[in-house]
Amino acid sequence: MNIEEVKNYLKENLSEKRYNHSVGTMKSAKELAKIYGENEKDAEFAGLIHDIAKEMNKEEIDKYVLEHNIVIDEIEKKQPALLHAKLGASIAKEKYNANEEIQKAILYHTTGNEKMDRFAKIIYIADKIEENREYDGVEELREIAKTDLNKAIVIIIDFVLEKSIKNSRLIHPDTISLRNKILSNT
Ligand SMILES: [Fe+2]
Ligand SMILES: [Fe+2]
Repeated sequence: MNIEEVKNYLKENLSEKRYNHSVGTMKSAKELAKIYGENEKDAEFAGLIHDIAKEMNKEEIDKYVLEHNIVIDEIEKKQPALLHAKLGASIAKEKYNANEEIQKAILYHTTGNEKMDRFAKIIYIADKIEENREYDGVEELREIAKTDLNKAIVIIIDFVLEKSIKNSRLIHPDTISLRNKILSNT
């Protein structure tokens, strides 16, 4: 896959804001991959396309799910926005022949998952700390990510949980499992 071609595709198919977020995630993923000795090209690619399915409308989603026999869990049924991770992973495979590590990183980038490897953790974090993100604590989080991926993930999950509680949103059990796993091992 050629990164410039992918960029052109995303530029045409995503809003400007989402496109900029995708490029920001690509850069951040590359930087972290370099620090942690992961494949930088794969990280760039995964970062760039992680939200490729985020702007599909309901009809497009339903059609894709049906055609590709995608299994939807109870929480995804109630919060379809979560689905863009599953669809994105599938599109990465189908359209760009992405390897399994990349597919998994995309699959887990929204809820997190206790099965995440280091590469997936990098993509998860890059998505939340890329240069366009602005929220209290993001600067500090960018520094933490450079030295401790697990610590950065727990901080991100805690943000997510606080927000979900405040907004009475469902919490995906995979998010809790990941947090528990990291906290039990550190
Ligand atoms: Fe996403
Ligand atoms: Fe994202």
